[in-house]
Amino acid sequence: MLEVSGVTTRYGAISALRQVDLSVAAGEVVGLIGPNGAGKTTLLATIAGLVSPAAGTVRFDGADVTGAAPEKMLKAGLALVPEHRRIFTDMSVVENLRIGGVTRTAAERAELLDEVVELFPVLGTRRDTPAGYLSGGEAQQLAIARALMAKPRLLMMDEPSLGLAPILVDTVFELIEQLRAAGRTLLVVEQNATRMLEVADRAYVLRSGELVASGTGADLLARSDLFDTFVGGNDRSAPGGSGAVTTDDPDRPGGRQPT
Ligand SMILES: Nc1ncnc2c1ncn2[C@@H]1O[C@H](COP(=O)(O)OP(=O)(O)OP(=O)(O)O)[C@@H](O)[C@H]1O
Ligand SMILES: [Mg+2]
Repeated sequence: MLEVSGVTTRYGAISALRQVDLSVAAGEVVGLIGPNGAGKTTLLATIAGLVSPAAGTVRFDGADVTGAAPEKMLKAGLALVPEHRRIFTDMSVVENLRIGGVTRTAAERAELLDEVVELFPVLGTRRDTPAGYLSGGEAQQLAIARALMAKPRLLMMDEPSLGLAPILVDTVFELIEQLRAAGRTLLVVEQNATRMLEVADRAYVLRSGELVASGTGADLLARSDLFDTFVGGNDRSAPGGSGAVTTDDPDRPGGRQPT
């Protein structure tokens, strides 16, 4: 479904990605892990058409879509749940959802709205609430639901569990399982590397813009040489600089991560 070959992406003089190859087949759940600054977000952004690569190609369903505009990628069936959710806080839950379905007809949008509310009941009960009033977990559900409103064939998520309390991290992983069971195709960036490897069919490990490993989740979990990379990724799951003190309080963001 998705084939990335030899992709190099630069920001001015910085090469954020160097010669990266990655593929996702229909029905697969693929993880993308790696430490801070490895280029994970840049890779999703390059696939989604938010940035153009300096070299290499992106193919979606066999068509060369390298450098295609994000709206075109969305129409082609690829949606992204961006880092930090980026929901519209002044708009209501239902307005956010409708925006997610702009590429669909009004009839499809109504149908999709019913579908996502069934998947995320809390969004149904808070339809008219401004999205800025949602809790972190609810906001994350809204961000994912909004992406699903585009009826994507490939859903990419950038750190869906970031900044969530442990119990909500569990919810995010349950949701990934649920989407997998429904046969959806996912490419997920996660800082909870070990948990991601447990749910992923396959995964890729990026470090400093280069692919350092790939394989089945089980294979990668067994690679002790990658442990530092995984921990490097896990480390920053506690948000917020000086406030990021380890705590056992499961209700507090930055609380101890389940391992
Ligand atoms: N808009 C930008 N302009 C310049 N440099 C950037 C830009 N965005 C990212 N970079 C740089 O590109 C590299 C890769 O960043 P990227 O955000 O893709 O990493 P990441 O793996 O998603 O990191 P994180 O885990 O912190 O989200 C980093 O060195 C970063 O500083
Ligand atoms: Mg990132």
